[in-house]
Amino acid sequence: MNKYIDFKIKGKNRLCNARLYPENNLELKNLDLEPFDIVICDGPYGVLGSEVDAAECEWDSFVLNGKGGTNSFKEYYKRLFDVCLPHMKESASIFICGYPEGMSAVKNLLDEEYSLNFRRWITWSYDNHFDFDRGTNFHRSQETILYYTKTMSGFTFRGGGVRDILSCPIIKHESKWANDTNPNHIDIAHEFKDGAKPLELMRPLLSATADFGGRLLSLFAGSGTDLNVAAEYDMDSVGFEFNPRHVDIITERLKGREECVVL
Ligand SMILES: C[S@@+](CC[C@H](N)C(=O)[O-])C[C@H]1O[C@@H](n2cnc3c(N)ncnc32)[C@H](O)[C@@H]1O
Repeated sequence: MNKYIDFKIKGKNRLCNARLYPENNLELKNLDLEPFDIVICDGPYGVLGSEVDAAECEWDSFVLNGKGGTNSFKEYYKRLFDVCLPHMKESASIFICGYPEGMSAVKNLLDEEYSLNFRRWITWSYDNHFDFDRGTNFHRSQETILYYTKTMSGFTFRGGGVRDILSCPIIKHESKWANDTNPNHIDIAHEFKDGAKPLELMRPLLSATADFGGRLLSLFAGSGTDLNVAAEYDMDSVGFEFNPRHVDIITERLKGREECVVL
């Protein structure tokens, strides 16, 4: 029997359900869930393999130089896609985040072995790189978000002029939870070191593809950004996070939202 934590969060126009599974996302293969409209996959980048002094995330120790490392990276994503894609609606979208070198391997995997429909290579650019490389390489100022849909037609796309280059600063954590001035939540945020995505980056993705009342799956919930942004777009969400400390951070963060109830 899988454990989970349920939340009710006030969205713009409705009360949204968010469910957090404090376990490995591969557990999806044992779960019978209502299918999802949007999947967000912010998993391994190959951080420990490429960058000195990166965050302490052992689960991300892929080396993306050369055939062996790239192959194990692809095998990891293949295992994940095999359990996750059956949970997507026919009309669903998936966003996969990573460095360009990792995402080129993932794109190759998806195009060769799956029937998903490639839509766009989105670039996230930033000027405030933390110097992980300590002067030994060109400073990173971009990451990639692959946008695929399950099928070639019938998916939700509102457009609204969202460009495929999104510029906003990289963050170590959301230093203040959105709309939250409780200083206790800032302390707990400082403990998240595994690369939180800025809300500012995720909002345009959802503004183009979200369905009112739809369902979002966050495969790597981290600090809870995806669950937060889902509620901003009136979507229910389900997240997986296997680090118990991060589960506490997500719980604190969601509780910090106005009118969030932990069930
Ligand atoms: C890059 S962070 C995600 C950050 C997130 N997008 C945010 O904005 O906070 C990846 C997270 O996935 C978790 N994680 C890694 N592998 C996992 C797995 N197989 N199942 C569940 N969680 C996993 C890590 O503990 C980490 O918190």
